[in-house]
Amino acid sequence: MMFNIETLAGVVGIILAGAIGYHVLLSAPVNGPPLVKGYFPFLGVGLTFAFDTEKYLERCRRKFGTIFDLYLGGQNLIILSDPIAGIQSLFKTRAVSLIGFVIYIDKTVFAYSDAIANVDYLEGVAKTFVNRLTNTERLQQINNWTTNVFRDLTGQRSEYWNFKDQEINLFDFTRWTLYISTMEGLFGPEFPAKETFDSYMNFEDNIFKFIRKYPPFMNWKGYTGRKRYLNAISDFFMDQKKVANSSMFVQAMYEYFVEHGFKAREDFGGYFFSITVAAESNALPGAFWLLAHVVADTKLKAKVEEILIKHYDPETQFYDLHAIVAEPLIHSCFSECLRLYANALSGRLVQKDITLSVVQKPSESPHNVIVREGSQLLVFQNMIHWDEEVFPYPRTFIAERFLEENKEVLIKHTDKTDNWKSFYPWGGGGHTCPGRHLARYEAVLLLSILGQYDIVAVDESVPQPSVGVRYSSGVCKPETPYRVKMSRRDKCLGS
Ligand code: HEM
Repeated sequence: MMFNIETLAGVVGIILAGAIGYHVLLSAPVNGPPLVKGYFPFLGVGLTFAFDTEKYLERCRRKFGTIFDLYLGGQNLIILSDPIAGIQSLFKTRAVSLIGFVIYIDKTVFAYSDAIANVDYLEGVAKTFVNRLTNTERLQQINNWTTNVFRDLTGQRSEYWNFKDQEINLFDFTRWTLYISTMEGLFGPEFPAKETFDSYMNFEDNIFKFIRKYPPFMNWKGYTGRKRYLNAISDFFMDQKKVANSSMFVQAMYEYFVEHGFKAREDFGGYFFSITVAAESNALPGAFWLLAHVVADTKLKAKVEEILIKHYDPETQFYDLHAIVAEPLIHSCFSECLRLYANALSGRLVQKDITLSVVQKPSESPHNVIVREGSQLLVFQNMIHWDEEVFPYPRTFIAERFLEENKEVLIKHTDKTDNWKSFYPWGGGGHTCPGRHLARYEAVLLLSILGQYDIVAVDESVPQPSVGVRYSSGVCKPETPYRVKMSRRDKCLGS
């Protein structure tokens, strides 16, 4: 086929004119959220959004209010940050789907097989996950196994036992001990936890590059880590004896797959890979921040040590971690860590037109906003958790912030008649994080290390969280190492 240069230029010109015309005509639908479409056809506000997400969202919120529609890459992303009515209204709506929103990531990042990457099937899997994990016996088994491995890893036979003022990076310590113990807690003693540590962490450290679609040559470590980890977890599920030694919860999920006819290596690999990421990538840094802030503040550390002593159980020669989770100060500290660092989002694909009741500016009353089918709706937690209107000194860690006596002092709008709800670390609605009880338990398990070892900060302050291009990709990691000195106590606290 022959094209001369004039014909080609004509065709390109018509396409460009069409794209520009379409862009100019793009406008917010009647009763829809304000549209922010940028200057570029198709790309829309994509570049600014991708490279300066946090500041850009804040600028838009100041200009348009708590709901606006970003046009980027030919898609509509509706950003919602209204703590008074909008978010609560979204989490009650049934016509939105989390699976529809994440399925692309499931396929491209976690390598879900084509067979299981089906919205209806995965909705069933998500429900089964919640159902199987809200069983006390199953949860208890995971907690017990995790605790036993953790105690073993940090006990008499461990490298830490002879530590006396030994300098370590607390984040490395957290990752190593909690990764091994939680993986064995879920998948049992035959899972190659130690062997997969490096591959998994290489993947996790670069996960934002997968989400931002970096080509493999710019994300070599991430791709290699993913390949090795996927191979290991897929092999594991091909060995029925090993699966039979995993937790009752993992076995129940395995059986659900088999009952629905999914038995292939890649069906298990992709799914359980994503479960590893859901379980590890948030819970480990969450636990780290708790311990780091306690270690950084000698008065707080002394109070936490008192709590450990109070809950020492001579029979098990360990701490009653459930009682410690429920201690108001521990609850407050961990909530504050999540508020400051959880940095996640709830995303939903809108399945049919919905009407949300939204307070666009705090001084206004709620009004109805229509969100069209096919839009993606996003609630960025930071937009709520770092809002000065609710949390005075929003970027400062205040251990006591969530104590009852600090309502209306360090958290505003807590009065029931106010209707504000400004704390969503676990997301919301039917997809509220099913792993939240495990995550709280793990954080306190890590904290219990203070019973056996004295840990003293070397660095003056807790590191800054790594946000920037990682904005909204889950609980932040520390930007720099956090150096501490670790010494084993002659006898553990409370004994
Ligand atoms: C500090 C730790 C954690 C945080 C901050 C966290 C946060 C979240 C958030 C924000 C969501 C999305 C909810 C929504 O879309 O509204 C979520 C979903 C989920 N989380 Fe967690 N999570 C944590 C730990 C865990 C753990 C330990 C597990 C695992 C075993 C887990 C398993 C899941 C799963 C399976 C989902 C998807 C739920 C669904 O499809 O309905 N998470 N988590």
